[in-house]
Amino acid sequence: MEQSVKQQSGSSVAAPAGESVCRRLADYETVRLSEAGDAVEIIDQTKLPGRIELVSLRSAEDIYDAIYRLRVRGAPAIGVAAALGIYVLAGQIAAKDYGTFYREFVRQKEYLDSARPTAVNLSWALNRMQNVVECHKGESPAAVLGFLKQEALAIRQEDEEVCRRIGEHGLMLLKPGDGILTHCNAGRLATCRYGTATAPVYLGQERGYHFRVFADETRPLLQGARLTAYELYASGVDVTLICDNMSASVMQKGWVNAVFVGCDRVAANGDTANKIGTSVVAAVAHYYGVPVYVCAPTSTIDLNTPDGAAIRIEQRPEEEVTEMWYRERMAPDGVKVYNPAFDVTDHTLIDAIITEYGVARAPYEQTLAGIAGKRMAEETEM
Ligand code: MRU
Repeated sequence: MEQSVKQQSGSSVAAPAGESVCRRLADYETVRLSEAGDAVEIIDQTKLPGRIELVSLRSAEDIYDAIYRLRVRGAPAIGVAAALGIYVLAGQIAAKDYGTFYREFVRQKEYLDSARPTAVNLSWALNRMQNVVECHKGESPAAVLGFLKQEALAIRQEDEEVCRRIGEHGLMLLKPGDGILTHCNAGRLATCRYGTATAPVYLGQERGYHFRVFADETRPLLQGARLTAYELYASGVDVTLICDNMSASVMQKGWVNAVFVGCDRVAANGDTANKIGTSVVAAVAHYYGVPVYVCAPTSTIDLNTPDGAAIRIEQRPEEEVTEMWYRERMAPDGVKVYNPAFDVTDHTLIDAIITEYGVARAPYEQTLAGIAGKRMAEETEM
């Protein structure tokens, strides 16, 4: 469907949340290239679920800001937005010679790369784009731009296919009627379609599995309440929103058969960074004997990072904890606030890591390296 989009902060589709409006969410794409190829178009996720607001991003500052402020978020979607974004910015470089074009490209790429530190997909996608420029060393900027467009669109297209494959592998670990608990949003709003942790849910829905999903609200930015509950409800999935401190309660009652979460960076030993609170869910699940599955596109696996201690965790502004979403401040002025955006779940709490190339189990050093090998083999065949 056509998305009509106004410039930068403009809105074209806005409506209060409600079933009929929810159902329209599927008509829009999380992130895409504009028809003219001169802008990145996103659903502004900071406005959901109240308004579906589409934004068109053209400048480096707007693209950086959209990623930093989580207008577009979720590891795969950030990678796609950055790939499309650097293509759009490359199109604005006035240089006629390769050398000048290359230097300006790298400057813009490094700027976008600094928007958020934890999700490796950001640098993964931008490095893929830089690699294209380097492979065409000495060619005209116009020619290089054509290859950059192809690569950015490929990254976007692959994301959809990767999520579907993760969904197929994840579905094999579930049975009809299962209860699934998820944290944050690793859904279609975090990717181009299907999501990662939600992919088995969407595929299961197509096949009549009738899963029951518990969505953690996910303080402080409420991605679970605002995004996961919203998109699953919009798709007709049986979803129940719970506060973050209720996961033990639903597991104790036997309502949860599996935890499915996404991730922002998986280290070589299987330690996994994901939205703050994931490690609490994993520890509770471990206690109650509920399996914990991390859904990870290979673009999120970082074999250069040996373990979780080496993962840089983003710190976010304290206002997200004290004021955001409240009518008035809900903490004393001046109180110290700690607001890490992610935590690391120890690999010993993870039953399996589900990738597009299959399911990896401990020992992760070996199985993740094997998965990376499968990816390389597939790429060489292509
Ligand atoms: O800060 P966010 O909203 O970008 O954090 C998102 C998450 O933690 C997701 O679980 C992760 O990126 C995986 S999305 C498929």
